[in-house]
Amino acid sequence: HGMPSMQGMKGMGGMADPSALAALDVLPTGLAVPSLPLLINQSTDVNHFKATLTAAPMQHAFIAGKPTTVWAYNGSPTPLLIELIEGMSVEIELINQLPQETTLHWHGLPVPPEEDGGPQEAVPPQGRRTYRFVLPEACAGTYWFHPHPHGTTHEQVFRGLAGAIIVRPKLTSSDALGVLPETHLFVTDLKLNADGSIADNDMNDEMNGREGQFLLVNGAYQPAVSLAQATRVRLWNATNARFLNLQLQDMTGQAAKLVQVGTDGGLLAQAQQAQTVLVSPAERVELCLSSKEAATLNLHALTYSQGKMGMVQPTPARKLLAVQLAASALVLPQRLRDIMPLGAAVRQQRVRLSETMSMAGGMHNMSFYINDKQFDMSRIDFTSKVGEVEEWVIDNTSDMDHPVHIHGGQFQLQRREWIDASRGAPTQYALSLKDTVNLRSGERVVFKMIQRHQGVRMLHCHILEHEDAGMMANVSVV
Ligand code: C2O
Ligand code: CU
Ligand code: CU
Repeated sequence: HGMPSMQGMKGMGGMADPSALAALDVLPTGLAVPSLPLLINQSTDVNHFKATLTAAPMQHAFIAGKPTTVWAYNGSPTPLLIELIEGMSVEIELINQLPQETTLHWHGLPVPPEEDGGPQEAVPPQGRRTYRFVLPEACAGTYWFHPHPHGTTHEQVFRGLAGAIIVRPKLTSSDALGVLPETHLFVTDLKLNADGSIADNDMNDEMNGREGQFLLVNGAYQPAVSLAQATRVRLWNATNARFLNLQLQDMTGQAAKLVQVGTDGGLLAQAQQAQTVLVSPAERVELCLSSKEAATLNLHALTYSQGKMGMVQPTPARKLLAVQLAASALVLPQRLRDIMPLGAAVRQQRVRLSETMSMAGGMHNMSFYINDKQFDMSRIDFTSKVGEVEEWVIDNTSDMDHPVHIHGGQFQLQRREWIDASRGAPTQYALSLKDTVNLRSGERVVFKMIQRHQGVRMLHCHILEHEDAGMMANVSVV
C-alpha cells in the first residue's frame, strides 16, 4: 500500500480484484459506537462559525498490522460533525493536501452556488479557499459535506472524505424533540484489498456503484450502542452507492417498528411508523428509538434489489448496529412541526434518466444520461428563476434505481407514479423536506422547489459512479 492512485477510476473496468478481502470477520465488531468528533468553532461570536478543514492522506489501521491509507479531514479517520445554528454566518477554510483537486460541497444547505463547492471552482493540490455563507432562519435539519470535483467525487468519498452537518433551530423551544438525547449514525462503505489498502473500483462498481465489504457506522464495523432512554437517531447514508433498507429486529429476527420523525431537511410534520425505511445514497433520516421494556435489537440493512445490471448478486442483508435499549415510555407529540406547502408551480422542468449498455473488447460499458446527454460543465441544461415555485417531473426510464439530488436547498415531494400508468396508481408523499429522492426503474417522481440564489446549480444521480460517469446536469438560476 503506497500512496493512493492519482488517476480517476473512470473507465478502468475489469474483473473483481482476486486479492480483495473475502472474509468479513477481519474487522473487530461490537465496539461502542464512536461519537463523531465535533469540528470546533474558532469564533467567540455566537452567531458566527469559523473553522478549517484540511483534506489529506493519512494512515489508519482498520486491520491490525495492515494500515490503510485513507483520505480524511483534520486527521480524523472518524467522520467529523459540524454543528451549526439557523441564521449563523459560516466561514470554513479548505486546505487541500491531497494529490488532486477537491472542493467542499454543503449537501442540502441553501448556500449561494459560488460557495457550494461545485466542480467549476475546484481547489488545486496545495491550494486553499474559504467558503462563506449565511444560513437562513428556518433550515434546521440533517445535512452533510463532501468533495465535488469533476470526475473524482466517487474516489474522494470512497477514500474517506465526507462529514456530517446538523443545523439546530435558533429557538430550542421550537424543536418538538429537543428534549431527547441524540445518537448520530454516519454510514460509509469500505472496500479493502487483502493487504489493507483501499480497493479500486471494479467493473461492477463502475456500472452499479461501488459496494465494499464493510458498512461502517461512525467509522466502526457493526458497533454497539446502549441507550438509557428514548433517543432521537440521525442516520446519514454517505456511501457511494448502497441502498440502506433499514429494519430493526429483535433477537428472534422479528421486526420491531421503526418510528421515522425526520428526513433530509428536518422533522416531518408527523411521525410515521414503518417496518422498513429505505435510505438511498445521500439521504438522511431521523428515527426515534424507544421501547416499553428493555430490549436488545439489531439495526440491519436488508437486501434491496435495485435492478442492478450485469451478473451481480443482490447485496446480502447486513447488520449495521447492535442496540441495547432500556425501558422508556415515550409519547411523541401529535405534530412535530408545521411545513407550509409550496403554492402552485409557475414552471415545469422535465427530466429523463436513461442509460445505454455496450460491449467493447469483451467488457460491458455503461453510459448514463440526463435528457439524453452526458454532463458537460460548460453547457446549461435547465434554466430556473429565483424565487419561483417550479415543478420538477423526473422519469426514470433506465433499468436501475437512481437517487436524484438537486443543489440549492430542499424540495417538497408531491407524488410518485409509474410512467406506465397501467402498472398502478400514484402515491402521494407526506409533507417533508428533501434534497435527494430515489427513483426505481419505470418510476416518475414529482417535486416542487424554489431556488433562492442566482448561479449554476447541479442536478445529478447520487450514486457517485453514475454522477462521475456523466449523469449530471447544470441548472442555471437567473
Ligand atoms: Cu451530495 Cu452534488 O452532491
Ligand atoms: Cu448536494
Ligand atoms: Cu444512478
